[in-house]
Amino acid sequence: MSNTETPVTALNTPRKILITSALPYANGPIHLGHLVEYIQTDIWSRFQKMRGHTCTYVCADDAHGTPIMLRAQAEGISPETLIANSSEEHQADFAGFHVQFDHYDSTHSAENKVFAEQIYLALKEKGYISRKTISQYYDPEKEMFLPDRFVKGTCPKCKTKDQYGDNCEACGATYSPTDLIHPTSAVSGATPIEKETEHLFFELNQFEEMLKAWTREGHLQTQIANKLDEWLESGLRGWDISRDAPYFGFEIPGEKDKFFYVWLDAPIGYMSSFKTYCDKTGLNFDEYWQQGAKTELYHFIGKDIINFHALFWPAMLSGAGFRTPDAIFAHGFLTVDGQKMSKSRGTFIMAKTYLEFLNPEYLRYYYAAKLSSRIDDIDLNLEDFAQRVNSDLVGKVINIASRCAGFVVKKFDRKLSGAWSKEATELYQHFVNQSESIAALYEAREYGHAMRDIMALADKANEYIAETAPWVLAKEEGKESELHESVSVGINLFRVLISYLTPVLPVTANKANAFLKLDKAAWDDIQHPLYHHEITKFKPLLTRLEMDAIQKMVDASTQTMTQKSNVPDGKKENKHPQKNATPNFEPLADEIGIEAFSKIDLRIAKIVHAEAVPEAKKLLKLTLDIGLEQRQVFAGIKSAYEPEQLIGKLTVMVANLAPRKMRFGVSEGMVLAAGPGGSDLYILSPDDGATPGMRVK
Ligand code: 2FM
Ligand code: ZN
Repeated sequence: MSNTETPVTALNTPRKILITSALPYANGPIHLGHLVEYIQTDIWSRFQKMRGHTCTYVCADDAHGTPIMLRAQAEGISPETLIANSSEEHQADFAGFHVQFDHYDSTHSAENKVFAEQIYLALKEKGYISRKTISQYYDPEKEMFLPDRFVKGTCPKCKTKDQYGDNCEACGATYSPTDLIHPTSAVSGATPIEKETEHLFFELNQFEEMLKAWTREGHLQTQIANKLDEWLESGLRGWDISRDAPYFGFEIPGEKDKFFYVWLDAPIGYMSSFKTYCDKTGLNFDEYWQQGAKTELYHFIGKDIINFHALFWPAMLSGAGFRTPDAIFAHGFLTVDGQKMSKSRGTFIMAKTYLEFLNPEYLRYYYAAKLSSRIDDIDLNLEDFAQRVNSDLVGKVINIASRCAGFVVKKFDRKLSGAWSKEATELYQHFVNQSESIAALYEAREYGHAMRDIMALADKANEYIAETAPWVLAKEEGKESELHESVSVGINLFRVLISYLTPVLPVTANKANAFLKLDKAAWDDIQHPLYHHEITKFKPLLTRLEMDAIQKMVDASTQTMTQKSNVPDGKKENKHPQKNATPNFEPLADEIGIEAFSKIDLRIAKIVHAEAVPEAKKLLKLTLDIGLEQRQVFAGIKSAYEPEQLIGKLTVMVANLAPRKMRFGVSEGMVLAAGPGGSDLYILSPDDGATPGMRVK
């Protein structure tokens, strides 16, 4: 079965479907890029439910791995606390966008441990696990092996400095960390050493035949299957599934200080999340996961993680005696205004930031309008976004109800008419006749096509209203029944459109149903028009999207990154909106004793005056009040601050530094600032309550 060709099963044969979205890592917030997938999956899930199928949508936080361990250490909290916080934030973001999971879990759960061990032991028992000694970079200070991304150095090919251990961002070369020139550990700054260690491997090569067949059986999009062919042709190697301690994950049974690599237990999280849901609801787990299961299983993912889902995962499942997925549905990446999301342009937009300014259903609709079953990237063009939402949803769909409802309420005691002319009946039937073709488009994840067809119907409905012109009929004598028909048909057409849009706009659909005095709608309810039906007074269901609100969101996105990265307490102003949150790993200086430290007299200083030194590229001249006296200090922070910004601020200065004669005068101390330089520099400020002259201890 493949995407566009997937047959739409007749409504009288309910299906049992389990669907998943990729599990988001527990060390970062959800952003608009992530939401492409969750919105895509949620629309599908809601659609299937509306069709009367049993569709279960599960997900979880992907909680293991070195980055999460190190992030927790950096924040001075346990990984358990980190992942608990993250889970809460993720779930709030998803709920904000009306992404409705049936169950949301974590890969760091007792159930997941059980399944990870069970699958591993089954694979081991069948001879699919091997051991090999490998040589890997090791941080002698931090006493840990370093994942590729945690080694930095000079690109062996183009010689660009500060590149990651797996690929060069400047020239695109891929290599292994040991190829880097001047490698350093991104964790401690130490020079890593090569060290041998024994790792466990999943023997993927034993699944070559199985995978060659599976990838050609219609479980994958054509573009993906072709890509995988290339890999399969060049031969499969063992997949390294173990990591050495210290590691945040599950210990491998029967091994000492060895943990499952995060990508081993991540997809297993699909199973364990579902298992927990089964335990809660009485659904039968085996019916969904045993070999030969008749139920359906689909994974929605991004195209970057296809090898994990279309090679390793089916091989693991079949090796351990479980069913394999019916299909992997991959999608492309998100660009904003035609470019990669960018922190400096304010287009790296967090879910939370979006929700502060805009209605989530705007984005759900826009993504739906852009999505297809292909893996092409989709672009969020901010101007087009506003236009499309306003012209389609507000201008075409909602407008129908707002034009008709007033007449029904005021002139016909809230009741729709019962008798329609032949033309009106045919028009309604024309709308309803598209029910199955629109359903087929949803099923095939051709949402963009579905939205176009729905909007073409909306155009037709508006034409009908323009032709029958209820506002003219209302002014003429003896036209009551024509008027009643016009607005009643209009409301009925609106109802069909809303029904078709329900998977995309669940909240607007709920409000529309309340307006129409209808219960939660099923896909086929529109087969019965609303005759003699009472409605309520119309309230606006969706307001226009203003460019102004988009601009505010973009501005806030630039700010959010700065506050996150540089101003942890969130109280300070936004000085460098363009800076991103990349942590700095400047090597630590040589250790000093407390005696040496206590010789440095650090004082709280108030900047009472600041001016640029016109002849100097980098210097500002500051007058600092340190209680007993004032000091003149030249500080190299011109490219980071306007002088006026600084006046009145408190900062920290080294007060007992010997005065230094400079070209423009004597500098009587030093102001403390952090950062690599240029505009990326931040003076230190004390918390509220500190006053000039206080000694910093
Ligand atoms: O790429 C990612 O963000 C992973 N956390 C996705 C995991 S999906 C599944 F396999 F768990
Ligand atoms: Zn390079």
